[in-house]
Amino acid sequence: MSNRQEMDAYLDEQAGLETLRFITCGSVDDGKSTLIGRLLFEAQMILDDQLSELQHNSVKMGTQGEDIDFALLVDGLSAEREQGITIDVAYRFFSTDQRKFIVADTPGHEQYTRNMVTGASTADVAVLLIDARKGILEQTRRHSFIASILGIRHVVLAINKMDLVGYSQAVFDQIISDYRTLAERFAFETITPIPVSALRGDNVVSRSSQTHWYHGPTLLGFLGAIDTKRVMIEHGFRMPVQWVNRPNLDFRGYAGTIMAGRIAPGDEIRLLPSGETARIDRIILGTDDLDQAQADQSVTLTLDREIDISRGDVIVAAKDPCETSDQFEAKVVWMAKDSGYAGRTYWLKIGAATVNATLSDIRHSYNINTLEEMASRSLELNDISVVKIALDRPVAFETFGDCPPMGAFVLIDRQSHQTVAAGMIDYALRRASNVHRQAVTVNRKARAQLKGHGGRVLWFTGLSGSGKSTIANALELKLHDQGYHTYILDGDNVRLGLNRDLGFTDADRVENIRRIAEVARLMADAGLIVMTAFISPFRAERRMAREMFEPGEFVEIFVDTPLDIAEQRDPKGLYRKARRGDLPNFTGIDSPYEEPETPEFRLNTAADTAQNLAAQLLRDLDLRPL
Ligand code: ADX
Repeated sequence: MSNRQEMDAYLDEQAGLETLRFITCGSVDDGKSTLIGRLLFEAQMILDDQLSELQHNSVKMGTQGEDIDFALLVDGLSAEREQGITIDVAYRFFSTDQRKFIVADTPGHEQYTRNMVTGASTADVAVLLIDARKGILEQTRRHSFIASILGIRHVVLAINKMDLVGYSQAVFDQIISDYRTLAERFAFETITPIPVSALRGDNVVSRSSQTHWYHGPTLLGFLGAIDTKRVMIEHGFRMPVQWVNRPNLDFRGYAGTIMAGRIAPGDEIRLLPSGETARIDRIILGTDDLDQAQADQSVTLTLDREIDISRGDVIVAAKDPCETSDQFEAKVVWMAKDSGYAGRTYWLKIGAATVNATLSDIRHSYNINTLEEMASRSLELNDISVVKIALDRPVAFETFGDCPPMGAFVLIDRQSHQTVAAGMIDYALRRASNVHRQAVTVNRKARAQLKGHGGRVLWFTGLSGSGKSTIANALELKLHDQGYHTYILDGDNVRLGLNRDLGFTDADRVENIRRIAEVARLMADAGLIVMTAFISPFRAERRMAREMFEPGEFVEIFVDTPLDIAEQRDPKGLYRKARRGDLPNFTGIDSPYEEPETPEFRLNTAADTAQNLAAQLLRDLDLRPL
């Protein structure tokens, strides 16, 4: 047979096999590489060169309409790469005649939490390596914690280097008992301890003659037999709609991957969040009609009647639906170098839906070695934290514990489009959903009529000492003289009152601007021309402020004074202090200022006086009612 034919035959045979994904946790010292090496070697795995051939064949695989996990895996990774995250996870692929295996191998140190999270996020089983001589270590606790929050239900304790402890059953039993105590707080479904020697091959693939007291499976035996899919198939039906397939007026299909449960034509479904119901007409896979489908299959469904369905909606069993909510408490693993702050807005992607999400509160972060809860004001790279999240519209979900694929989400930075966090929903928060906006009779239009001008927010931003307050003052005087109703919200003044509790850390600045934007919104709604004079150093918050207003209502004015000029002026002597090191986190010195990219106005204070710039604004601003 030619290489190609061999490959085809091999692929055909393999295509029908189920795939088990697992992650190995431990360090090189524990014998992790040796263990993986031995598994691969003894199980007659595909070698690296065959692996790359598999990759070349992926185009062909696609045309066969087969569900090739390896291609999926590569895709998953490149999606993350595109989003600018460098993930240090080595995936290895091997198979026996019963199953295909994908093993994620990640570095074990604390600073690699996000890598372990990436590797573990799709794993069915975690293999925790334990050095028989050392027993349970801090890292065992850390790895177990991460595995448990990522919803891995099955743990193997590969108690390694048994040869170095004389294959002692007592040592083995002691480690098991220590681990069971530790694992009480985790909800693992099975914990399977196996005495191994990766180096000598005991109980990895073949049974050891040295451990006659052990009657459990070998590692490969266990991985080949464990049933991890049953739970998700027996769950209520869940399918997020990936896209609406409408090639012509006669056909309307909803395509997606079934996350849980099974379905057959005639079954009654409910669409979430709308709640409308219908019955399944056809289930289509490629060119075939199926008489049933189940979790993990990607299919197109048609319904017996037309209902309005768009991408991101979720089709669920009518009699066993899930909840919808717009507020959650969730665990997040922070994966970005840039910190996360309460008050910041991100995109949240859950299932096939993408919505705007505000990180409304940081409850606490975990010390991932001791599992203690620590107070925390920001989310840093590799942190695992509990947060509250508010969405701008409800989504269908389940708690991550009940149905991982329906409770997992990612947060995406709206500017860089980077994935900044992976999240798991703990539960929905209902409290605030009982707060409803009250309708009022005297509205914005009526107020504008009375005043003769619309409400506005003139958002001045720039370095300390750039001239924001001076120009805003000059402008207010001119507006006032012409009969406009105005107000100035000024950094220093507001910080003496409303925001007295805030300092100058990044987290505090985010909250400072969030409050100012809320106050400015109320004032603009009341019909005032509000001028805000805050450094407002971060693009994310200026964008958040802008999005709170109608188009045209928010006007960003960049007071563009270079640092050296602001520092020369130093009206309050603060730059000098900061240079001396007496004023930490000073903007421009040791705290960043992100210049606006497309402000409505850019004022060059080096070229013109505050009076002239104010006059120019007065001339160019459009203050008519919107
Ligand atoms: S912002 O970054 O949160 O928008 P804001 O405009 O409210 O800052 O406050 C800035 C003013 O506070 C400055 O003009 C300055 O007078 C004063 N200030 C005191 N400490 C700092 C600091 N570390 N960084 C910047 N401004 C400071």
